[in-house]
Amino acid sequence: MAIKAVSPKTIEEAAQILRDGGLVGMPTETVYGLAANALNGEAVAKVFEAKGRPAINPLIVHVYSIDEAAKYVELNDFARAAAHKFWPGPLTMILPKVQGCKVSDLASAGLDTLAVRVPAHKVALSLLKGAAVPLAAPSANKSGSLSPTSPAHVHDSLGGKVDMILAAGASSVGLESTVLDLSGEEPVVLRPGGVTAEDLSEVLGVEVRYADGDADKPKSPGLLLKHYAPNTKVRLNAVDVDEGEALLAFGSLKFMGLKQGGFAKDLPEGRLCNLSDRGDLHEAAANLFAMLKELDKSNAKAIAVMSIPDEGIGRAINDRLRRAAES
Ligand code: TXA
Ligand code: MG
Repeated sequence: MAIKAVSPKTIEEAAQILRDGGLVGMPTETVYGLAANALNGEAVAKVFEAKGRPAINPLIVHVYSIDEAAKYVELNDFARAAAHKFWPGPLTMILPKVQGCKVSDLASAGLDTLAVRVPAHKVALSLLKGAAVPLAAPSANKSGSLSPTSPAHVHDSLGGKVDMILAAGASSVGLESTVLDLSGEEPVVLRPGGVTAEDLSEVLGVEVRYADGDADKPKSPGLLLKHYAPNTKVRLNAVDVDEGEALLAFGSLKFMGLKQGGFAKDLPEGRLCNLSDRGDLHEAAANLFAMLKELDKSNAKAIAVMSIPDEGIGRAINDRLRRAAES
């Protein structure tokens, strides 16, 4: 396996690997994906195997344009409106497959719907055009662990199992895409992300709601409550830091103290990360997984997390944090 810096040559090499049925770590604006040719069932099977992902959990199929998406799914009026507004970008739509859809049944876990997305990353788009096939790509991590936002994360999680990692720096959004189900009577957000239900309501002209968090019966098979989890215990809405804890901060540290006395800003090296010291939610989203991973390595007894406003992309951050805290 090789981590290769992006160039026209390495993109063509990666495209060839994909056409030949191999796996590539693909940068996107949300998180790194583990990409395979979605038309090739054996290649898709390798994705499930590499991640240790249950085969009942379908994958997102990435394409480079709305017209490409239309080859595989029925784009209704809602889908076209959302695609025009948010593609390329961090929005995945669940839609009925077209008749005779060529995507491997394994990619959609045998469902008659398919998740599709056009990523807003120039390397991903070049790779999709170069490979000339749709790419099934879940996040490039072991099933159940934190999603990768850098090539090094992909290497740490799946190193021996991918044929090449295309290295293009850190993912700018940092959280997985919003998953919007447009296959039912009314549009429902199954997974919160950078595109909010409010953004979608405005474009679709109807109320878009978030799915109820019924963990036993997730609408999206991947939305099991325990997910995105570090190994260290996570404690939410912390107002101070207990002895032996690490702190994942958000905003000013002025009023954060240590239970045993002293200030949070004086925590030892490696025990403190601030998602955004200026309190910016987009910056916080981009830092979330990398900082959780870093604090996970600090041998702390728990990671205390300051509260994050539940608005805009903050809602998606809190969704991931709640899953990380579930044990
Ligand atoms: O940002 C992203 O979406 C990243 C990058 C690589 O594009 N990909 C990603 O894929 O997060 P993955 O496989 O980790 O998450 C896909 C989610 C899962 O929760 C899965 O259950 C759901 O989408 N999903 C896929 N197809 C579905 C379908 N037909 N019906 C309902 N949920 C579906
Ligand atoms: Mg994932």
